[in-house]
Amino acid sequence: MEVVQTIADLRSRIKAYRRKNEKSVGFVPTMGFLHEGHASLLTKARAQSGLVVLSIFVNPIQFGPGEDFERYPRDAERDLAFAEAAGVDLVFMPSVEEMYPTPTRTTVRVSEVTTRLCGASRPGHFDGVATVVSKLFHIVQPDQAFFGLKDAQQVAVIEQMVKDLNLPVEIVPCPTLREADGLAMSSRNVYLSTEERQQALVLSQSLNKAKDFIQSKAATSFTSLELQNLVTQHIQTAPLAVIDYVEVLSYPTLEPFDQSHSTSSLIIALAVKFGKTRLIDNLILQVR
Ligand code: PAJ
Repeated sequence: MEVVQTIADLRSRIKAYRRKNEKSVGFVPTMGFLHEGHASLLTKARAQSGLVVLSIFVNPIQFGPGEDFERYPRDAERDLAFAEAAGVDLVFMPSVEEMYPTPTRTTVRVSEVTTRLCGASRPGHFDGVATVVSKLFHIVQPDQAFFGLKDAQQVAVIEQMVKDLNLPVEIVPCPTLREADGLAMSSRNVYLSTEERQQALVLSQSLNKAKDFIQSKAATSFTSLELQNLVTQHIQTAPLAVIDYVEVLSYPTLEPFDQSHSTSSLIIALAVKFGKTRLIDNLILQVR
């Protein structure tokens, strides 16, 4: 495994690989503090790609004022050991100055799919994500890039960007990895106190309840509002939970879910704060 910090070094390594190999380059962008959710993307990349490239970069422009950019967990040494064990070939760990040597005057902004959910509660967040992912795609020039459905709106945004800008990369969405008790794995879970961690179980439980509810109903005889209420009520049983949003939408359009539409996937997406920690989770279901 090689570790590089500069764009020039990364480009020369990938160029050298491309000169000698026919196999594809697979890319997993992350902000580090790696966990099994990230590992599942790396495993998929390892199985599908000849060269596995991992980026670790806490991207300042996707954090709003007052969000957790400064305190976002970082542990480079642990991440590198983790990456090595996951079979990564090349790690790109740029500094903020390397990625943004001068203030960015170009923003990649994806409309429509960014208006709801985290796009609404974190203004500018997806501009930062689309801009950095677009930069990383130009730097790495991967054949495939792997993204987790834990961040389902992020997947929808990146897919839209790739389509609209004709970027020559295949986006591979990967399922959400969970702790044994159901909590979706996240680098931010380390912020939770013991009590918050325990109460955060209501999130996956509420999604499971919604799933059971849908499956108990014949075909599509339920409404978005019924699902939203069911999930909200279960989350509210946790005294420390402060709901940011619970929404039921079509996926991947992220438009209101309408039974009469031909779209067949539904997403129940939620964001809930426990103390200072904001957690997200979702369930995507094929309903027809
Ligand atoms: P980060 O939060 O580090 O996540 C990196 C990738 O890991 C994302 O594609 C995310 O969806 C995936 N991931 C996180 N938790 C997961 C889980 N429990 N199961 C499966 N996949 C999981 O997402 C970002 O970083 C950034 O926004 C980034 C795309 C790197 C741009 O800065």
